Amino acid sequence: MRIAVLNGPNLNLLGTREPEIYGRASLAEIEQLVRAEAAKLGADIEWMQSNHEGALVDAVQGLKGRADGALVNAAALSHSSLPLRDAFLSVRVPFVELHLSNIFAREPERRQSVLADLAVGLVSGFGAQSYVLALHGLVGRLRA
Ligand code: DQA
Repeated sequence: MRIAVLNGPNLNLLGTREPEIYGRASLAEIEQLVRAEAAKLGADIEWMQSNHEGALVDAVQGLKGRADGALVNAAALSHSSLPLRDAFLSVRVPFVELHLSNIFAREPERRQSVLADLAVGLVSGFGAQSYVLALHGLVGRLRA
């Protein structure tokens, strides 16, 4: 089973970026956590992060035939990106949306997602563990 993990803008700064909201784990540490958990589940991980909307659109378009499913933290693009939404509508690869913070407990403009209704499910508010929980949810769904 191949699972792509897509990370959006500013997530490369995790660890130092607003740690009171996003925690102290760096993105590299979260990647290690997810790879270790995926190995236990017998899944292969393809990991990417970009600060550029177009690069993420390209990554979503590239999922077809390359990944069985995806974990997606599109960061701020989750709240507004119609190009990213259109890319997911085009490829129809099952994905779980995830966020470190609980977006529903934050500013009004963060309480909506333009991707959530296309997702298999959404995990939000568990810090780095959101990635692990989302992985379990996705793998369970792909094996069902
Ligand atoms: C985030 C939440 C977004 O609102 C924010 O723009 C991010 C990170 C999260 O993981 O909590 O960059 O996706």
